[in-house]
Amino acid sequence: MISFTLNRSTVDVDIEADTPLLWVLRDTLKQYGTKYGCGQALCGACTVHVDGAPVRSCVLPVEAVAGREVTTIEGLADGGPHPLQTAWIAADVPQCGYCQSGQIMSAAALLATNPDPSDAQIDAAMRGNVCRCGTYDRIRLAIKDAAARGRSEQET
Ligand code: FES
Ligand code: FES
Repeated sequence: MISFTLNRSTVDVDIEADTPLLWVLRDTLKQYGTKYGCGQALCGACTVHVDGAPVRSCVLPVEAVAGREVTTIEGLADGGPHPLQTAWIAADVPQCGYCQSGQIMSAAALLATNPDPSDAQIDAAMRGNVCRCGTYDRIRLAIKDAAARGRSEQET
């Protein structure tokens, strides 16, 4: 049995220790917001947070999160939309949408440590998240908008 915190609730899963976290999230815990793209840590579609840091859940054995805090796109908002979600909607970022939960989770990890990132810092943080629809310009725009929204929320 492996226990961890998922989106602020404790979960216990009876599963092989080397099962990738992504399989546990989707198949066992029915959290379908996190996507499978490549299965090789190359595309970023499966990005979630472990103790606040972005990880590729397709290559992380579930035993690695025992006793730790996992956050998925379903748990990113806490008491209202996350500024990134508001900004994503305002900029109409998604096209097919497949990569977008991973994009938002990587962006959220960036803003948690850097509330006012430059274009170069955004590009560096988002480099591992592939979008086959080419929404990169809108993603950058939305991250800057969310950063501004987040800063103004903190001032009020
Ligand atoms: S599915 Fe995990 S990085 Fe592509
Ligand atoms: S919106 Fe289609 S892959 Fe990114």
